[in-house]
Amino acid sequence: MTAKIVLLGATGYTGARTAEAMTRRGLRPVLAGRDKDRLATLAERFGGLPTATADVSDPASVRALIDTGDVLVSTVGPFAKIGEAAVTAAVDAGAIYFDSTGEPPFIRRVFEHHGPAAARTGAALLTAFGNDYVPGTLAGALALTEAGVATAGVHVGYFVIGGGAGQGFSKGTLNSLVGVLLEPMYRWRDGALHDEPAGARYRTFQVAGRDRPGVSIGATEQFALPRLAATGVAPRLREVDVYLGWFGPISRAVHLGSRAAPLFRRFSPVADVLTAVGRAAVRRAADEPNAATLAGSTSYFVGEAFGASGQRLATVLLTSPDGYAITAELLAWGAGYALEHGLAGSGALDPVSAFGLDTLRAGAAEAGIVAV
Ligand SMILES: NC(=O)c1ccc[n+]([C@@H]2O[C@H](COP(=O)([O-])OP(=O)(O)OC[C@H]3O[C@@H](n4cnc5c(N)ncnc54)[C@H](OP(=O)(O)O)[C@@H]3O)[C@@H](O)[C@H]2O)c1
Repeated sequence: MTAKIVLLGATGYTGARTAEAMTRRGLRPVLAGRDKDRLATLAERFGGLPTATADVSDPASVRALIDTGDVLVSTVGPFAKIGEAAVTAAVDAGAIYFDSTGEPPFIRRVFEHHGPAAARTGAALLTAFGNDYVPGTLAGALALTEAGVATAGVHVGYFVIGGGAGQGFSKGTLNSLVGVLLEPMYRWRDGALHDEPAGARYRTFQVAGRDRPGVSIGATEQFALPRLAATGVAPRLREVDVYLGWFGPISRAVHLGSRAAPLFRRFSPVADVLTAVGRAAVRRAADEPNAATLAGSTSYFVGEAFGASGQRLATVLLTSPDGYAITAELLAWGAGYALEHGLAGSGALDPVSAFGLDTLRAGAAEAGIVAV
């Protein structure tokens, strides 16, 4: 049987944009979700695509969507809450899997829990294959490669500039963000991941003519860059950190507040109140981000490589249009490439190990991510 692409979550904001990007590339994904009528309307809009119904609360229905060698793309989130059925189905089927998560605990689970099982069944898993965290992984990998064997550390920063005061995120993204705020994140030091709260570290990066603040988070880079380094590129790598530069002037407060996160987690009434405030904000949010806000924003991704005494060895700066555009384009490019060529290996892959650095750079450029 010929392998196919299945897009689960097609009726959501990111899913519909991904369906559109796939169609533009000449792909014919099976649009999958839980609402038959909305799937039919969407399929019609994209020239009569095939559809299939599945609900993640019935994992067997998700498993029935795919066979060995198929490409399953999931945009069903929050992933920590409802993402498990898709990745489990892909592992069981020996399929190729992409998702749009930006949730660090879910990413860690894919690498540490699902990866070994996928290696046994021949499945290839590519989690967080969108704005979070492909461009930063690429920027970090390019800086690491440029600096070479002298590299002891790599820092990556994510920034969004411009866009005005409109809602810059979909309701789905805000919902996912609220779900992970108090969850433990991680840094990578000397061969291992170490838990730490979100925002535990703070630093500034020089971006678009100014020093801009970022706070630390867990991401894909803490898995991808040590792997790349271990291929002989930078055998003395000891440190990988990722920073989120979305908070602007309140970054310092986010950083200081992060010290209280473990206390909040232990003292559940405070965590409950914070989560309730977050959920109320999600309820008030529009389903889709403001189109003018997205159109007016530019993303920057910085990768910096350091030597053993902290001296800067290489800096790579990439830029792109808004995060939803590149998430849809990256998923469409990645799925199309995987359907045609397969991916390099099985288990939990990362963007560099799955495609190789040159192919990833070319694919990212097609998605709109280019060097400044
Ligand atoms: N990494 C990144 O840079 C990036 C970029 C964009 C989005 N994201 C993430 O991607 C996820 C989706 O975002 P979004 O804006 O597209 O959210 P959304 O519009 O709320 O879409 C969520 C999708 O999940 C589906 N779904 C919910 N429950 C389901 C169930 N029980 N069975 C099957 N499908 C179910 C929804 O189906 P219905 O239509 O039937 O409700 C919808 O298609 C979020 O976690 C977001 O954070 C990340």
